[in-house]
Amino acid sequence: MKRYSHPGGHVFYRKMKHARPMVSHGQGIYLYDSDGKRYLDGSGGPLVVNVGHGRPEVVDAIRRQLEAVAYAHAIMFTSKPIESYAASLAKIVPIPDARFYFLSSGTEVVEGAIKLARQIQQARGEHERHLIIGRRQSYHGMTLGALSLSGRAALRGPYIDMLADMPHVSTPYPYRNPMTGEEFAYQLEDTVLQYGPENIAAFIAEPISGASLGASVPTNDYWPLVRQICDRYGILLIADEVMVGLGRTGRWWGIDHWYVVPDILVTSKGAAGGYYPLGFIAARGSDIENIQQVLGDFNHGGTFSHHVVGAAAGLATLNIIQDEELVTNSARMGVLLGAQLESALGDHPHIGDIRGRGLFWGLEFVRDRQTKEPFPAATHLAWQIWRRAFDNGLIVYYSQGCADGFAGDIIMVGPPLIIDESQVGKLVELFVKTVKGLPFA
Ligand SMILES: Cc1ncc(COP(=O)(O)O)c(C=O)c1O
Repeated sequence: MKRYSHPGGHVFYRKMKHARPMVSHGQGIYLYDSDGKRYLDGSGGPLVVNVGHGRPEVVDAIRRQLEAVAYAHAIMFTSKPIESYAASLAKIVPIPDARFYFLSSGTEVVEGAIKLARQIQQARGEHERHLIIGRRQSYHGMTLGALSLSGRAALRGPYIDMLADMPHVSTPYPYRNPMTGEEFAYQLEDTVLQYGPENIAAFIAEPISGASLGASVPTNDYWPLVRQICDRYGILLIADEVMVGLGRTGRWWGIDHWYVVPDILVTSKGAAGGYYPLGFIAARGSDIENIQQVLGDFNHGGTFSHHVVGAAAGLATLNIIQDEELVTNSARMGVLLGAQLESALGDHPHIGDIRGRGLFWGLEFVRDRQTKEPFPAATHLAWQIWRRAFDNGLIVYYSQGCADGFAGDIIMVGPPLIIDESQVGKLVELFVKTVKGLPFA
């Protein structure tokens, strides 16, 4: 396959040695490169493309908004798209009387959420509460604040001396960690007591683990117990739904699987389906009003916050998800996808676990199924699988480090929520072809 490296070009990317083809266009669940090669987008990049590529409804909404007005600063104006979008979101988030703050990425909403948690606590008179508890296997974003909460050793590595020292607890990982929900809750409580509840502002976690643990689903008692601990010590619960929000797991929100209500919820990736960089923070009306009364303002803002075009794109995307009942489709197609992956690959000698909910699946590759020994980190197996799938015309998402921070290979499958039965079959066929062709040395 022809690969473009643009040796004379002026762009640098994260994966520096990897040459990539030139994308040309997208339609439905497919992307096409400039050579005409077609790729089934089995993960929407990193779980972004919720309503599929080439949707005229979203494109038209963006175009209409651009023609009307492209930018108006949030300190100076509100707008119909922003107000309507927030009103629609208020009906689907689990937080009562929710209020919304719009930003442009997952990292930004996490960064904003930790500042909001701090200010909610200050407005309650809890001025010492400045620590945010994160989890060891987690990812919350690329800025130094969000990375301080994240646990991914390989991503923290070069910047470790620059990160804030935040407490971390274990992450549910049934495949490798037999701890019960109660044991996780004890550990969280121990950590709270060790640092002093009066110093803890919030606990942040992904309701179902994203790339760090590849769609690892906690046991059913985990989230209700976490909620209890947070309530007991006045700690805010932040649900990081950046990857799993808005229907990805077959319910509107990952946390909805356990009927738990967070204090703050953040999401991004699929919010505008990739048509616009968009994310938002949702918080309780009573907490926002308290900040207004006690502190006056939320001391946080950015040039592109509450972007009117982003709101138009988000609203159009949300309308499609509702009109086409894509949350239900995610649940239905998710069952099919999981069953087909299990039936085709469940006995594979190097696949240790297949897990997920809705259209959010992770496959963990191991050298030895009995001992769960991972492949050595230097093999970069997940990356090799990703590349082979790509050559076969299938896009999946890869991640490494689930076993010990460095080794442990995961492939994630999370196609657009519009996928239908025959397309699920095609996706699995391409993935099976990819895996069966691997040498697994
Ligand atoms: C759970 C979670 N939170 C936050 C982020 C950061 O989002 P972004 O890459 O949009 O900054 C990610 C990205 O993968 C994520 O999966």
